[in-house]
Amino acid sequence: SEASKLAAFDALIAENQRIEPSDWMPEAYRKTLVRQMSQHAHSEIIGMQPEGNWITRAPSLKRKAILMAKVQDEAGHGLYLYSATETLGITRDEMLDQLHTGKAKYSSIFNYLAPSWADMGSIGWLVDGAAIANQVPLCRASYGPYGRAMVRICKEESFHQRQGFEILLALMNGTEAQQRMAQESVDRWYAPALMMFGPPDAESPNSQQSMAWKIKRFSNDDLRQRFVDMIVPQAEFLGVTLPDPDLRWNEDRGHYDFGELDWDEFYAVLRGSGQANALRLAKRRAAHDEGAWVREAARAYAERAASSERL
Ligand code: ACO
Repeated sequence: SEASKLAAFDALIAENQRIEPSDWMPEAYRKTLVRQMSQHAHSEIIGMQPEGNWITRAPSLKRKAILMAKVQDEAGHGLYLYSATETLGITRDEMLDQLHTGKAKYSSIFNYLAPSWADMGSIGWLVDGAAIANQVPLCRASYGPYGRAMVRICKEESFHQRQGFEILLALMNGTEAQQRMAQESVDRWYAPALMMFGPPDAESPNSQQSMAWKIKRFSNDDLRQRFVDMIVPQAEFLGVTLPDPDLRWNEDRGHYDFGELDWDEFYAVLRGSGQANALRLAKRRAAHDEGAWVREAARAYAERAASSERL
């Protein structure tokens, strides 16, 4: 019966066991996973754009090779996550359609422009750093295919984070103009990176249920705090200033206090009025259209293979 299936599901969650694609699961659990995992996949794919845009302008062959590898990793993460999401009964075509029609969300962070080379450093250090802080706990997500996908993705993200840190370190060890370029970039990315963790707990409609299902293991605010605590000493090492006058160590809490973020800006970006929403979507749609011949060729090949008419 439905009740005994739910009891079995609840028991698996309580015992920290994994839910697998063939297991019975509540419809709302499936829906939440499709939502979060597809948004995550879309973020990886859209996230290729700000950095892909810099490949031809990377300042050295070494930087170009690193950047290309990183953008390729992101494509891999996206495809990997689409596959994991397909185990829940939605097709990749449906997910892409949601993205291309503007129905699907992807991370707010990718709706900011990356006009300077130092932004490649800030994206690696702050954006990928925030991504890791958010995703390491997701390695223990209750849904098996998601948790397992996260393990590999986190390993690659940690390389991404280090390469970004190293770009900023090189700039901070450089000329005054290079130092200014690094600082100006950190000034722009700091607050948007903190917003990546999502709205404050009190305004996060999904958190409570997702934590009860052990999809999310920590709340948005807890992870944001953990991230701030992590980057303050790194910023000191780099010699950059984090642009928040309220940022200071709180002895009683054992954490850094930090200022209120501009949540109006966050919601405006989600509604589509960020710097680059229209640009990102237009580029994604164009890439999809230009790739039509690849999908057609793959389909034709699969059909021919299926009818065993291969030469
Ligand atoms: N950008 C865009 N939308 C966001 C963001 C963000 N930074 N933060 C929250 N939202 C959306 C949520 O998707 C949700 O919208 P929906 O209900 O229409 O789907 C709404 O705001 C309310 O937020 P929450 O209730 O807090 O949503 P949730 O429990 O899903 O938590 C979070 C949001 C933390 C982002 C979660 O979905 C998550 O951990 N996702 C996986 C990580 C991920 O997607 N990372 C992508 C960026 S990292 C990268 O690709 C390099």
